[in-house]
Amino acid sequence: MACQSQADHYVAVQSVDELQEALAYARGHRLAVHILGGGSNLVFADKVAGLVIHLHLLGKEVLGSQEADHCLVKVAAGEDWHRFVRWTLQQGLRGLENLSLIPGTVGAAPIQNIGAYGVEVESCIHRVEAFHQADGTQHSFAKSDCVFGYRDSIFKRQGNPWIITAVIFQFFQHTPLTPEYAELNKRWLSLGAPDDPLVISELVCQIRQEKLPDPKDVPNSGSFFKNPLVSNADYRRLKQLYPKLVAYPAGQQWKLAAGWLIQETGWKGNMHNGVGMYEKQALVLVNPGKKSGSEVLKYAQLVKASVKEKFGVLLEQEPVVIR
Ligand code: EPU
Repeated sequence: MACQSQADHYVAVQSVDELQEALAYARGHRLAVHILGGGSNLVFADKVAGLVIHLHLLGKEVLGSQEADHCLVKVAAGEDWHRFVRWTLQQGLRGLENLSLIPGTVGAAPIQNIGAYGVEVESCIHRVEAFHQADGTQHSFAKSDCVFGYRDSIFKRQGNPWIITAVIFQFFQHTPLTPEYAELNKRWLSLGAPDDPLVISELVCQIRQEKLPDPKDVPNSGSFFKNPLVSNADYRRLKQLYPKLVAYPAGQQWKLAAGWLIQETGWKGNMHNGVGMYEKQALVLVNPGKKSGSEVLKYAQLVKASVKEKFGVLLEQEPVVIR
């Protein structure tokens, strides 16, 4: 998210060799390292100590024949996510259409297992290639080693030492469309339910443009909180108190719509000193005043405290804070 912030050192790297050099420099000068992809899911502190390495690794390579029933595509971490999704669709590859227009880079996608409109990126991931920050070893993670969960993976854990350099995606020829999200479904049915992932992509873009602020116009990092998971007992208690509570079953638990909780505590569209929860989607924190990271975090704390006080539910912040 764009906020006023200054790093001690910054370098953009175009290759794995340059990345290695930058890491060696950081080790030699005892600098903390921060990896920057598109930056859309990061909140920077006012002053960032150490070296910020901006990954500009680019390139796409089809590893298998597209005639077979599936194909593998290796993509460098610095490629723009939405441009990559559109490219897959133009190649006739199905599976990522619901994830159109998500800001950020390919390398950032597995970190929080980006998800939208009923699809999570893990569904198309085959392997993740990464580079160990401390000892410079390279490792290819099989999908099962990534431990993907809701907005989570092994790369999101505290102290993660891995820098993602490339992602290998797997596409199957007969992957069915996933048009179940209510608003998407309505629009898709009105077009005659075509079996065309490009149509789904266009509709997802429409919905996102109507509902979510474009980070190029209004600084934001998409959902600022995860949808919290609560026990069945907590869900029943809350539903009795608040019959309009929005929740979805998630295994043995329930996932609450954080946007609804935030809206009901009065924060939707409520701007404080240039920072606020978006007027059309309360889960998105916007920073039109381009305030500092610490002001953004202060505001987020107020929202969290209100939701905790009213509903007894703790919201977990989604963007990573870089200090
Ligand atoms: N809702 C409200 N008020 C609001 C926002 C939401 O009442 O201001 C309630 C509505 O009942 C709505 C429900 O919450 O039907 C769910 O809202 P929405 O469909 O917009 O989805 P979400 O759960 O708020 C998640 C993702 C989004 C993703 C959408 C669509 C998380 C943290 N966020 O939001 O991801 O686009 O589903 O699938 O899971 C992002 O990652 O940046 C992002 C926007």
